[in-house]
Amino acid sequence: MIVTTAQLFKVAFGKFAIGAYNINNAEQTMGLFKGAIKSKAPFIIQISKGARGYTEKRMLEAIIRSAGEIFPEAIFAVHLDHGDEATCYDCIDSGFYSSVMIDASHESFEENVAITKRVVDRAHAKGISVEAEIGMLGGVEEDIAVDEGNACLTNPVEAAEFVKLTGCDSLAAAIGTSHGAYKFKGQQSLHFEVIEQIEKLVPGLPIVMHGSSSVPKDEVSRINAAGGTLDPEACGVNENEYLPAAKLGVTKVNIDTDGRLVWTRVHREFFRDNPGAFDFRPPGKIFIEEYAKFIAHTSEKLGSAGHLEEVREFVTKK
Ligand code: G3H
Ligand code: 13P
Ligand code: ZN
Repeated sequence: MIVTTAQLFKVAFGKFAIGAYNINNAEQTMGLFKGAIKSKAPFIIQISKGARGYTEKRMLEAIIRSAGEIFPEAIFAVHLDHGDEATCYDCIDSGFYSSVMIDASHESFEENVAITKRVVDRAHAKGISVEAEIGMLGGVEEDIAVDEGNACLTNPVEAAEFVKLTGCDSLAAAIGTSHGAYKFKGQQSLHFEVIEQIEKLVPGLPIVMHGSSSVPKDEVSRINAAGGTLDPEACGVNENEYLPAAKLGVTKVNIDTDGRLVWTRVHREFFRDNPGAFDFRPPGKIFIEEYAKFIAHTSEKLGSAGHLEEVREFVTKK
């Protein structure tokens, strides 16, 4: 069942986080649905601009619609990840998305406000919610002095002003994470104080954590043992920090890289062990199962596991 992002946020806020997973193809979609159902977790399926161009945007929409039919017990929302203004309008007009992200964080504060406000007005007129971003999502490295490191983090006062001026529904805030497999040098903690300060100024605002992959050490070493050349220092978010962050207001946790690592490990190991193989379905099947396991595990860490029926009750009552 496709529900709205707003409905998922209402149930989850302050209690657990909704996993938002990027998909690009049928195998990822199958693994995602299987893992979410196994762990009885609601989720968000998100599509980036790159994913829309990889096959064709309508192909992904059809895959998602079909998955909803194949797994009728699943409860999920569909979201545009890191949209520009034109892509946001395309998704708003398509009628398929329940929320869009406008990412104008690279612009000046004023320009970011102006673009975001235009998208919010157009989205809200159709009942679609908007995630916006403020602050540079950068790696905060261990050896950077605190002040310098904090320059990457979202300024809570600016964030509150931004939300007031734009009317956005959720906010991607920089709390120390970055995209990809190389987030930190050494293990680092999330900047919980930034979440707390934003929530103090804008109580009840769902905060979105981008760059949330955990980059498991074991995954990186298996990829390298099968011929990969990833930096063994690759490091992600401590998955035991998802739930504490969720209790403070992080309601959506974006994960893409971890899924790519599962895909790379499965395929590298398969072709290493079966050098004569050329049928892509056997490794594809292994990937679906391994990705499902990863999703089920992550649902536990996000605290979303086991909340499916509560969400069903909430959305069917309204
Ligand atoms: O944050 C970006 C996501 O990982 C999507 O990546 O633009 O390569 O599809 P992509
Ligand atoms: P990761 O690269 O940590 O998976 O982050 C994905 C993301 O933020 C998608 O918007
Ligand atoms: Zn992101």
